[in-house]
Amino acid sequence: MVKRTLDLQPLDATFGAVVRDLDVRALDDETFDQLHAAWIDHALLIFPGQHLSQLEQDEFARRFGDLEFTAAAISNIGKSGRVHHDQASDLVKSLRGNEGWHHDSTYMPVQAKGAVVSAEIIPASGAPTGFADMTAAYEALDEDTKSMIQGLSAYHSLYYSQGRAGYLPTANADGGYDMYGYHDEEPSLRPLVKIHPVTGRPNLCIGRHAYGIPGMDPEASEALLDSLNEQACQPPRIYHHHWVEGDAVLWDNRRLMHQGYPFDMTQPRRIWHTRIAGDPTTELAANHASS
Ligand SMILES: [Fe+2]
Repeated sequence: MVKRTLDLQPLDATFGAVVRDLDVRALDDETFDQLHAAWIDHALLIFPGQHLSQLEQDEFARRFGDLEFTAAAISNIGKSGRVHHDQASDLVKSLRGNEGWHHDSTYMPVQAKGAVVSAEIIPASGAPTGFADMTAAYEALDEDTKSMIQGLSAYHSLYYSQGRAGYLPTANADGGYDMYGYHDEEPSLRPLVKIHPVTGRPNLCIGRHAYGIPGMDPEASEALLDSLNEQACQPPRIYHHHWVEGDAVLWDNRRLMHQGYPFDMTQPRRIWHTRIAGDPTTELAANHASS
């Protein structure tokens, strides 16, 4: 049998590649091993023309690890089919909050390993999703900043990020929120510099959910984190993917941050997100016990 090599076209950034001529539903073990290596190497893989069902997407994602959750719609289309665009809508608030750069599930006890997202309904603008390379961002810091942040940690919370942006959802009868991520446990404490468990390279672990660096006053902590986020998410460390219906992407959430990008919300948009669970031995928050 002829050994297959992946058709990888690197993006014009410090990370990422487009993978063509591959059906992610039908990967033999050898091709999967190559794909896994490419995922670790490039951190973002884009697969045009897949048109995955939610089940197929979940099955593909499961090859990279257990799932934190199966395919969930990230959309401004409500259950009744209505397109939400008013700022009072919880769907809109969630999408708008996601416009801040972040790693997924840093606010949970275990940070996510990665995600598969596919595009079903996309407006003409492409309603892009941005990605940012936190390995390259760490390496780009000056030595003084590197030594200043070494040993620092920050709390991560969805209450903080959505509250600061003004996008907390509508409270339920008990005053809480029924959406994913608003848990009652202590906010997760994570180091600002995190060693990637596979590459062994240091990454910034920052983003919109991070706040409250222990040992700093809240204003100084916020200023430092804002400055790190601003410096980190700059070319050549960022790439915005303009979606085409049928695209699927896979990213490494331990290395990359991402952001939603504003689009005309009078237009329907639905992408599907399957979240791959982090390994608790490396992704568990410092102040949480493994269950
Ligand atoms: Fe996200």
